[in-house]
Amino acid sequence: MLIPFLIGCLITAVLSFDQQPLTDSTTSHYPRLNFSSSSPLIFHSTFALLQQWPNTFFPAGHTIAPCTIPPNTNLYHARPNNTFPPSPEWFAFDSAMAYGIRGTTADSHLLTFRTAKAVKCLYFDGTSAALQYDGSMDSQNVFLHNTSAEAPADPVFGDHPPRWPPGGNSTNPGSNETVWVPLYAEYARAAGLCNFIKEKNLGGPGWGYESIIRMDEGFEVIWCNFSSPSAGLVSWLNVSAPALIGVTPPKFPRRRPDHMANTFIEHRVGLMDERPERNWTYVYLPGYDRPFKEAGAKEWFRTAAKTYGFAGGVPGRGEARVKTDSCGLFSFYDPALVDQSHARVVYNRKQFNLSSDGYWLGPKNSSDSRVTALQQLSLRRRYMLDRNISEPDGLYMRSAVEDRMRAMLSGEESTCSGIDWVETSRTIVADYSSPLYDLRSLLSRITTSSLTNATIVRAQVDLVRGLAHQFVMPYYEYPPHFANATLHKAFSPESPSSLAALVRCKNQHTPAPSTPLSTSETLTFSSILSVLSALCTTLLPIFLSTEILWLEHFNNVKAYPTTIPSFLQTRISETSTSQLEAVDELMAWLGWTDQWTNCEPGCSVGQVCAIPMWPVPIGLERYRGPGSHWQLNRTNGPRVANGLHAEP
Ligand SMILES: *[C@@H]1O[C@H](CO)[C@@H](O)[C@H](O)[C@H]1NC(C)=O
Ligand SMILES: *[C@@H]1O[C@H](CO)[C@@H](O)[C@H](O)[C@H]1NC(C)=O
Ligand SMILES: *[C@@H]1O[C@H](CO)[C@@H](O)[C@H](O)[C@H]1NC(C)=O
Ligand SMILES: *[C@@H]1O[C@H](CO)[C@@H](O)[C@H](O)[C@H]1NC(C)=O
Ligand SMILES: *[C@@H]1O[C@H](CO)[C@@H](O)[C@H](O)[C@H]1NC(C)=O
Ligand SMILES: *[C@@H]1O[C@H](CO)[C@@H](O)[C@H](O)[C@H]1NC(C)=O
Ligand SMILES: *[C@@H]1O[C@H](CO)[C@@H](O)[C@H](O)[C@H]1NC(C)=O
Ligand SMILES: *[C@@H]1O[C@H](CO)[C@@H](O)[C@H](O)[C@H]1NC(C)=O
Ligand SMILES: *[C@@H]1O[C@H](CO)[C@@H](O)[C@H](O)[C@H]1NC(C)=O
Ligand SMILES: *[C@@H]1O[C@H](CO)[C@@H](O)[C@H](O)[C@H]1NC(C)=O
Ligand SMILES: *[C@@H]1O[C@H](CO)[C@@H](O)[C@H](O)[C@H]1NC(C)=O
Ligand SMILES: *[C@@H]1O[C@H](CO)[C@@H](O)[C@H](O)[C@H]1NC(C)=O
Repeated sequence: MLIPFLIGCLITAVLSFDQQPLTDSTTSHYPRLNFSSSSPLIFHSTFALLQQWPNTFFPAGHTIAPCTIPPNTNLYHARPNNTFPPSPEWFAFDSAMAYGIRGTTADSHLLTFRTAKAVKCLYFDGTSAALQYDGSMDSQNVFLHNTSAEAPADPVFGDHPPRWPPGGNSTNPGSNETVWVPLYAEYARAAGLCNFIKEKNLGGPGWGYESIIRMDEGFEVIWCNFSSPSAGLVSWLNVSAPALIGVTPPKFPRRRPDHMANTFIEHRVGLMDERPERNWTYVYLPGYDRPFKEAGAKEWFRTAAKTYGFAGGVPGRGEARVKTDSCGLFSFYDPALVDQSHARVVYNRKQFNLSSDGYWLGPKNSSDSRVTALQQLSLRRRYMLDRNISEPDGLYMRSAVEDRMRAMLSGEESTCSGIDWVETSRTIVADYSSPLYDLRSLLSRITTSSLTNATIVRAQVDLVRGLAHQFVMPYYEYPPHFANATLHKAFSPESPSSLAALVRCKNQHTPAPSTPLSTSETLTFSSILSVLSALCTTLLPIFLSTEILWLEHFNNVKAYPTTIPSFLQTRISETSTSQLEAVDELMAWLGWTDQWTNCEPGCSVGQVCAIPMWPVPIGLERYRGPGSHWQLNRTNGPRVANGLHAEP
């Protein structure tokens, strides 16, 4: 499967050499960024596994990961009556999430279970439990139905909702009203995923895979069999609180006309552009007299915020109660999915103005904003959906996931390196995301300021130099001999010391050649290598050009200029501008928008930076802690809330 892909690469690379004159920065050692490459996409999806914050920015999941829930993990299930759950049903990792979903009815019961052993799970990334039309459900649907063509046209609620009760009920026989059962498709998905495990003999009560992990506002578990000895019942409590007295019931009809139902769905689900017209009615359960309804929703939000993980470039814990097995990841960006990959490349080329080699050509109309275009590029992963899975792609997916799940089950260590690739990708994001943002800020300060005052200019170049040096420090040895006359040669990107640093930098996480890598690890590692290559081939030249500028003009503390002559102003301005452009494009290529977005100003103690997470009403600004008010704000655009500040 990989061979045609590699041949394709070679052919297009040769063509591009014919067509485009290459400058220093686009030689084979420093290739231009390829925006058609799957590497930054695979990398970001891998890095973000089990992290609430980045997965909220990029809801359409692309990874299916075998995983483990450790022993002694608490699992919570709330129900609106006193029955034992059927199978499969859902668990939350946090009691507040279970309570927020089903805990505030007149007869709510909370069942607490605790795992008796390590339990295998299968994790779908993105907002895979959010009932939205933005691609959230696609990876599960395509996994269950083999191909995109077979997946339900309505990805959220399924295509054939049952009449409920069929043909009426005992008091009203023969009624032909179609009553919508909102969670019908959810139960069908849960059963389908559990059946896959059962049919493939990958698990059952007490052994192997017994659960599916998904995320909406927090992480949840589809538990395949509640009679499994793998999790024991710890408590079963009636958590209903006394009703509020004297509250006027809201004036909603019990059975709403269609347009009302639609309004309600719109309100709850958000992003409904692709929702097919439906004429189902909705049975509304008001619960207007329930205490803790609002408080329960807030606490659910707070508990989900604890699993934000990496946010604003600062490492966080994510959903630490699940451990992914990074030897067995499956990615929908895998080039082995030939038709899906082809469709993605074609779509991106058109949508984001790319050449056939994947080079970004900039906005088609010169009047259109570069900043806007860079934002679009940076967010491109939001718009990539698993919707072109052909039959061969589907077969590859099904067998790859099955094989990898089985390999993780039998502990076939010989096929795995033992390297934690998810942690490796997180290390890279931790090492580079904030410093890149800072470098960009420093460079844009130079490009927008007046360059006449030598003291100020020297200080600004010094800051850029310090940061650029930090990026290359572990890999770079200064050339032994250089004078002003040979400075440009000594610090050229093609000089021996530069090329040696480049190799070290790119390979900063490369395992020894004898390391065995599974098929999955080979792809994950190749995406990591591409990301490091992009970082190093962009940052090393920035370091080198800054060194030349510095050594030529600012290095002698006693003799640096008091004013900057105009030729030097021009040079500094040109150097910084091209450096800034390179950093901007690198940041857009990486697409770590989630890490460059945060609440501004930052939160104080007790506050939580809020992003809209389904199903909490979208558009929250900031939750200011117990006893305070939510600031509600509805938006339908990209789910970057008001009060958040996004760069670039
Ligand atoms: C960029 O990546 C795409 C998709 O992997 C590939 O088809 C293309 O050949 C690459 N371009 C270059 C110049 O390698
Ligand atoms: C209990 O609640 C569940 C979940 O809503 C529902 O499916 C089930 O029918 C209820 N059982 C009874 C006896 O009411
Ligand atoms: C759950 O496990 C029990 C006991 O092994 C079995 O009888 C039952 O059929 C299983 N239920 C499902 C839904 O697989
Ligand atoms: C998906 O493909 C597998 C393997 O060919 C087959 O066993 C299964 O029945 C298919 N499922 C559906 C829903 O078509
Ligand atoms: C039966 O249907 C009627 C009208 O559709 C409804 O008012 C009634 O509540 C239903 N009864 C039950 C037990 O669901
Ligand atoms: C239900 O539908 C059937 C067939 O369309 C029709 O014959 C019957 O009269 C309908 N019943 C009611 C109560 O509308
Ligand atoms: C649970 O508690 C609520 C409130 O006290 C009560 O109305 C309900 O009947 C109780 N449920 C059961 C099954 O005892
Ligand atoms: C919904 O109902 C309206 C009015 O009764 C009708 O015009 C429309 O075709 C129906 N839509 C569907 C999808 O059935
Ligand atoms: C592509 O070109 C169009 C038309 O100029 C522009 O609106 C859009 O922002 C560009 N997008 C990118 C990613 O370059
Ligand atoms: C340059 O800026 C520094 C720091 O702001 C200031 O002290 C100095 O007077 C300025 N020099 C000139 C020539 O304006
Ligand atoms: C390079 O030239 C500058 C002035 O143009 C001088 O201050 C500096 O000492 C020279 N550096 C070397 C290494 O010769
Ligand atoms: C919602 O956002 C808009 C646009 O930023 C702002 O003008 C408005 O004041 C906000 N509304 C609330 C209630 O915060």
